[in-house]
Amino acid sequence: MWGLKAVATSLLVCSVLGARNFPPDFKFGSASSAYQVEGAWNYGDKTPSIWDVFIKKYPNVIIDNSNADIACNSFHDWERDVKMARELGLDYYRFSISWPRILPTGKQDRISEYGKKYYNDLINALLENGIKPVVTMYHWDLPQALQDWGGWLNPLITDWFENYARVLYSLFGDRVKTWLTLNEPLIFCELSFNTGKHPPGLLSAGQGNYVCNKNAMLAHAKAWRVYDKEFREKQRGKVSLANQYIWLEPHTDSEIDVEATKIARQLMIGMYTHPIFSKDGGWPPVIERIVAEKSKKEGRFLSRLPGFTQEEIEVIKGTYDFLGINYYTARTVNKVEDGVEVGEWPLLGSSDLDIQLTTNDKWNMTDASWLFEHPVGFRRLLNWLKNEYGDIDILITENGYATNKTIIDDQARVKYMEKHLEQVLLTINEDKIKVIGYTAWSMMDNFEWCDGYSLRFGLYEVDFKDPKLKHKPRASAHYYTNVIKHRSLDFDDKISNIITGEL
Ligand code: NOJ
Repeated sequence: MWGLKAVATSLLVCSVLGARNFPPDFKFGSASSAYQVEGAWNYGDKTPSIWDVFIKKYPNVIIDNSNADIACNSFHDWERDVKMARELGLDYYRFSISWPRILPTGKQDRISEYGKKYYNDLINALLENGIKPVVTMYHWDLPQALQDWGGWLNPLITDWFENYARVLYSLFGDRVKTWLTLNEPLIFCELSFNTGKHPPGLLSAGQGNYVCNKNAMLAHAKAWRVYDKEFREKQRGKVSLANQYIWLEPHTDSEIDVEATKIARQLMIGMYTHPIFSKDGGWPPVIERIVAEKSKKEGRFLSRLPGFTQEEIEVIKGTYDFLGINYYTARTVNKVEDGVEVGEWPLLGSSDLDIQLTTNDKWNMTDASWLFEHPVGFRRLLNWLKNEYGDIDILITENGYATNKTIIDDQARVKYMEKHLEQVLLTINEDKIKVIGYTAWSMMDNFEWCDGYSLRFGLYEVDFKDPKLKHKPRASAHYYTNVIKHRSLDFDDKISNIITGEL
């Protein structure tokens, strides 16, 4: 009897422990992006990106008046970055390529030897250390040369991007097997054109953001198709995009809020997902209808949301090998009267839906004004995606926590990671969703766009006052190293301080 009980207990313990273990083929990574870490903004023949130009013109848009001219100096100190990735034990490192560093005119006129060398060195060193490169083609630093031609509002950008992608596959595709075309098109289209807070700072709410959305979908699709047609057979890699998804829940139980939330999800998630991942392709029909009706009411002949031709729908549909997801936060939705101010978060033409995006008092606030913790929302989001679009391999391309202080013992970040990783495990084990990897944002503190260096997301702390930009692993770096080493959320955290120290 006792024996049986012992067996039962140990089985129970095993299964409970097992529930906190990751599948053997699950991969762990960490991420950065070119503009946020590289510096060397005008080194060699690199031309300015829209961010270089925007910040130099309007330094006050950055909270601490800083810029990314030097940032983490990764362009010169990439060996240190590889060391960090190795110390953490990463399976892969996600970084982005700076378009104006590789193609100084933005077009395929000329490939920069400096750019080529830098990315070759980085990719080769990562591989020599057993770390796979996961490469984002576009993480917001558009060549200013292309902005001068209209940037994301010019439909020609879909061809420029296709050509850029072709250059990248031919230069690096022999070694890079996971590509992300665009990082968070939702955010760059919204912040560039709906709120005007990101370059080019062109306020064209309810129009520019939709045009950008359409061009982004086509640009992604063309880049995927080039791979499929010209490179896949030989290079055997995978291509997708990294979408930022802000999970939405009704603010109250009222039917009105519940209904509004369903539609809002089609706006916030569907606009960047439905054209590529749904069976029918094109815009989410409900959004297409609402914007058309609103536009008509405004006395317009045409909808502010540009339509897709059937040919465009077909070009975009199905252009994925997996889905990249950046998940940080959630919002609640409440319906407001037509024309009521939508508040400080007018993201994604929420005025077109007459909704307000707020938060739930129970969600912890972080030091980033936009980042409220809602880990359970992560699992709900993944389930919603599965219901909408079916079984797709999911790569979590970003998840992270911000502080506005320099803290080495960042237990709040550790907790945030643990809580989100727990939800990933539940999604895999209980909901049978194929999440193939998790990427911590970010490997090191870096230039956090309009928040400059005031917000820190790094597993490694960077001392930006030190000319050598000293790096120190935080508690979260130790924690993540242990998770990776044990491939589990259960480990004796006294086991090891694998990380040696400052870099
Ligand atoms: C998502 C963006 O991809 C990244 O550039 C940014 O730093 C993080 N979110 C944190 O805001």
